[in-house]
Amino acid sequence: MLASGVCHSDLHVRDGEWERPGPLVLGHEGAAVVERLGAGVAGLRVGQAVALTWYVACLRCPACQAGRQWLCSGSSSVRHRLPDGRTPLRREDGTEVLPYLGIGTFAEAAVVPAEAAIALPDGIAPEAAALIGCCVATGVGAVTKTAAVEPGASVIVFGLGGVGLSCVMGAVLADAGRVVAVDRVAAKLDRARDLGATAAVLASDRASTDAAILEAAGGGPDYVFEAIGLPATIEQAVALLPPGGTAVLVGLTPFGARASFEVFPFVDGSRRILGSNYGFAVAAVDFPRYAQLHLAGRLPIDRLVDRRIHLDDLEDAFAAMRRGEYVRQVVVF
Ligand code: APR
Ligand code: ZN
Repeated sequence: MLASGVCHSDLHVRDGEWERPGPLVLGHEGAAVVERLGAGVAGLRVGQAVALTWYVACLRCPACQAGRQWLCSGSSSVRHRLPDGRTPLRREDGTEVLPYLGIGTFAEAAVVPAEAAIALPDGIAPEAAALIGCCVATGVGAVTKTAAVEPGASVIVFGLGGVGLSCVMGAVLADAGRVVAVDRVAAKLDRARDLGATAAVLASDRASTDAAILEAAGGGPDYVFEAIGLPATIEQAVALLPPGGTAVLVGLTPFGARASFEVFPFVDGSRRILGSNYGFAVAAVDFPRYAQLHLAGRLPIDRLVDRRIHLDDLEDAFAAMRRGEYVRQVVVF
């Protein structure tokens, strides 16, 4: 492993908001270099730089057959095991330890399915490669693939962590006319402007936040991306939509969370709510594409990284994330 981003989804598991089998080695946003290949592995070579995907598609289920690999129902990744059902990890006493999402990147080395290791073009830095593996694919994909935002559209993004700022980068890449970034932490707003947001709004009480957003968006936004995962901001995102507007839910809540909206105006105004998991990523196609866009200067992924840590610092990193500090903390090895 060369680099591993710390993502809020690791924190959801760490804090018990998502029930998962265990014990687990967390981490699912990793870049690595191939050290050894299993028998029969083609398309990779020792020394190859790779980004890891946390969702290996089975390629056999109806969703995969229909070309929607992000909806694969047969993925071994969500069982936190290799495709053959085994785990490569053991405690000293021999009991099983599972790799989170089949890759467990908070480790100096990992055994992963060959399909999880996506070869990237030469010249890509490990930190950027790592982020392509989760937040970039999730945020850029939500904008460009799930929503397919049109040039000139007005876009709001709630939450400016690695995922939300990747939505901002995606909106800029898609030539959105207005990109309004919203967070409750002021330092995040500067980062969003730096990435091309046309306006940034510090979230306070809902009425004044909504007023500031609508002014910056020039009226009702065409698209609102929620990249926090809070019922309150999900409801706020939906309520901001004008007729014909689309809310894209990217942030994941704790299990069981519910949100509500007033149905009549929603239907009457033909509004839409879309869920977007992992930015509809087809890793083998999208990861090298995002890497090329980065190398061409069109996805400044490196600007998301604002703290480098070691494995021993993870608890401190999680504490900082709970406070909304840092955009993307990255474990470097
Ligand atoms: N209003 C505005 N911004 C908020 C609020 C709020 N009420 N609560 C939190 N935020 C901001 C934080 O300040 C932070 O900048 O949301 C951002 C969340 O960023 P991270 O914690 O870094 O999360 P990230 O890794 O980007 O993931 C976001 O996507 O995939 C999911 O599980 C992931 O639910 C998580 C979400
Ligand atoms: Zn993630």
